[in-house]
Amino acid sequence: MPFTANRQFKQAPRMLVSASGMYYRTDDGRRVLDGTAGLWCVNAGHCRPEIVKAIQAQAAEMDYAPAFQMGHPGAFDFASQLTALLPAGLDHVFFTNSGSESVDTALKVALAYHRARGEGQRTRFIGRERGYHGVGFGGISVGGIVTNRKAFGAMLPGVDHLPHTHDRSRQAFSIGQPEWGAHLADELERIVALHDASTIAAVIVEPVACSTGVLVPPKGYLERLRAICDKHGLLLIFDEVITGFGRLGTPFATDYFGVVPDIITAAKGLTNATVPMGAVFFQKKIYDAFMTGAEHMIELFHGYTYSGHPLAAAAGLATLKLYKDEGLLTRAADLNAYWAAAVHSLKDARHVVDIRNLGLIGAIELDPLPGQPTKRAFSTFLKCFEKGVLIRTTGDIIALSPPLIVETAQIDQIVETIREALTGLD
Ligand SMILES: Cc1ncc(COP(=O)(O)O)c(C=O)c1O
Repeated sequence: MPFTANRQFKQAPRMLVSASGMYYRTDDGRRVLDGTAGLWCVNAGHCRPEIVKAIQAQAAEMDYAPAFQMGHPGAFDFASQLTALLPAGLDHVFFTNSGSESVDTALKVALAYHRARGEGQRTRFIGRERGYHGVGFGGISVGGIVTNRKAFGAMLPGVDHLPHTHDRSRQAFSIGQPEWGAHLADELERIVALHDASTIAAVIVEPVACSTGVLVPPKGYLERLRAICDKHGLLLIFDEVITGFGRLGTPFATDYFGVVPDIITAAKGLTNATVPMGAVFFQKKIYDAFMTGAEHMIELFHGYTYSGHPLAAAAGLATLKLYKDEGLLTRAADLNAYWAAAVHSLKDARHVVDIRNLGLIGAIELDPLPGQPTKRAFSTFLKCFEKGVLIRTTGDIIALSPPLIVETAQIDQIVETIREALTGLD
């Protein structure tokens, strides 16, 4: 099973059999409130009829069209609507099937872009400690989560890492973006000086590092990264697999922070998680760099059998319409003050050592059980599930990201359930 304690699970399986709106139902008939939007992906809530119908209709109309040398209107329509949502300039899309594939696509295109411009020596990538960019070899190489790397060999050569941005001694219980830490972006100057800018293709970061336990960027940090990348001709890639599609109260994190990267990776909320799909957004200059040579020749030797799959495109179009009709891409902004107060109200709960929040994301960090890292958080997860609330944990951190349709009473229920669970735990 993926990222699962297999033996523990098989002794007492946690099986979900149906879902609707904010709730799952288990095989023993219990209703479970979804505090995590599945895996940060069901932004509009579960089994929304508008999306279900669109998938059904597309399956009956045309199940599949070859992705190579052929096209279908759904993929182009979806691409146009997506780029209309993005900052000017990010006007080309490449479809994938997951966040991991989006990251590998972004990295490959970054290399090929420099080569197409006659700078093929730019082969290095700079990631960040505690970054999560999926599980492909590219993603784990630029990622910075030790457990996701240590068992899998030497990975991509020529990768360096920025330090992560979290320091509890200076940032604990920050509401929103921490004041301290913008200077950590200057580490990029040091890394550039070490390798020389002419060898570096791109810098990749999550605007908010979510899977590693919600590390909110310090005020001014992303702006500095952008400026340093500009100074040295490095592409800046924002991995928005989680922050895309309204999680911060804006369509994308690029809008929230006012920092525009050269490439954005997305997945998760793209189809409300109904059909697997990812997307990578590129600045026009990147697309244009490939459009040379004989016109009958393929310009980019990259793609997936299921790139722009008709069912995924149909699901994506219906999802985007729903997001717009219900104002979900900005709803997290309306809820933010309530959410922040609710999550931070756990400051005095048992075992809590830090709380972080941004948009509709929250993290509650626990003091680990001595000698048994992750156990206390995992026990909290099990207790909350017993009590009818799905939360997610990573290390000793509880990470929350409810669907963007969440109501305030449900926010209260999530927070109170965590408090009760913690109270009863060693
Ligand atoms: C920032 C980020 N990038 C990439 C991924 C990988 O996405 P997937 O699991 O769809 O491959 C994730 C998944 O959580 C993610 O959070």
